[in-house]
Amino acid sequence: MFPPIREELRGLEPYGAPQLDVPVQLNVNENPYGPSPACIADIATSVAHAATTLNRYPDREFIELRAGLATYLSRDTPHGIVPAQVWAANGSNEVMLQLLQAFGGPGRTALSFAPTYSMYPEYARDTVTAWVQGRRADDFSLDLDAARELVERERPSVVLLPSPNNPTGTALPPEAVAMLCDAVGESGLLVVDEAYGEFRRAGTPSALELLPEHRNLVVSRTMSKAFAGAGLRLGYLAADPAICDAIRVVRLPYHLSSVTQATALAALRHTDELLGQVDRLRAERDRTVEWLRGQGLAVADSDANFCLFGTFADRHAVWQGLLDRGVLIREVGPDGWLRVSIGTTEEMTAFRDALTQVLAEQS
Ligand SMILES: Cc1ncc(COP(=O)(O)O)c(C=O)c1O
Repeated sequence: MFPPIREELRGLEPYGAPQLDVPVQLNVNENPYGPSPACIADIATSVAHAATTLNRYPDREFIELRAGLATYLSRDTPHGIVPAQVWAANGSNEVMLQLLQAFGGPGRTALSFAPTYSMYPEYARDTVTAWVQGRRADDFSLDLDAARELVERERPSVVLLPSPNNPTGTALPPEAVAMLCDAVGESGLLVVDEAYGEFRRAGTPSALELLPEHRNLVVSRTMSKAFAGAGLRLGYLAADPAICDAIRVVRLPYHLSSVTQATALAALRHTDELLGQVDRLRAERDRTVEWLRGQGLAVADSDANFCLFGTFADRHAVWQGLLDRGVLIREVGPDGWLRVSIGTTEEMTAFRDALTQVLAEQS
């Protein structure tokens, strides 16, 4: 066979949700609200300035951006975050792949608990890291005793845990993070993937608060969700500076372009505005959960900007019925469940109307 792709990649399809041009797109957990004219103008000016030096490579250490991200993250922990604790790449997907490049690899194991984010096993596969997957409880929480037992048995180099979890929306309590850091010990890292962290409900702290106590803890974030910057491709993490230094060994030189750095810095100057819709999305999420439950459906408690609902004997038929009505959601998660991202009020009305029709058709 030509080309001689790696044996384990042969015949595989690339990961990704369908990108379909439909009126209501609620399938990839984006923020439905775009940037304001003031933010767009700031980005345009900043990129124009960056363009004047495009003949030069960008700042390889992205010092200014790391400082901006550290200041932003310091909002979520009384201990503060310094630039040396911050690393960034093109989306948190790249950040986590780099973590596996540095800390995984042949003879090492990465571990998570299903149902969870589908890209994790791909990072492991691509870095030739063994992949082990435990299971979450029926309500999608983590059974802490079972989790500890699995970690102690498998001795993973990297544990990947989203909080809130995708696709279930379940947040991890701080005691679970602390317990897992202890269970993983000095031989590994616990990566708490807070891609949806800003959407968590009041009273759920960020794992950032635990960084001073656990040198093996990594907290990953992204500008793709609450920050309304999915097109920007900027993910980042906070961790012990030694972890950032290890990633610097595997990163490609100049992986963050001048344009990306300028755009991300401009977006950070508009933090309050870009995050301004988070409360609205949280309220819309809670309304959506309540409405779905009112239809007699099961819905996982959600701390994110999406919810997982079901269960359907033929979930594909429900997904297709919604798509036929111009509403695209995601067929993901355990059998029988579907995931809807939280959109604008109008989009959620369209979703409810379409689902009402689909359910009536099926009964
Ligand atoms: C749990 C989780 N982590 C990470 C990502 C990756 O996000 P990005 O690469 O856009 O930062 C996603 C995207 O949907 C996600 O759901």
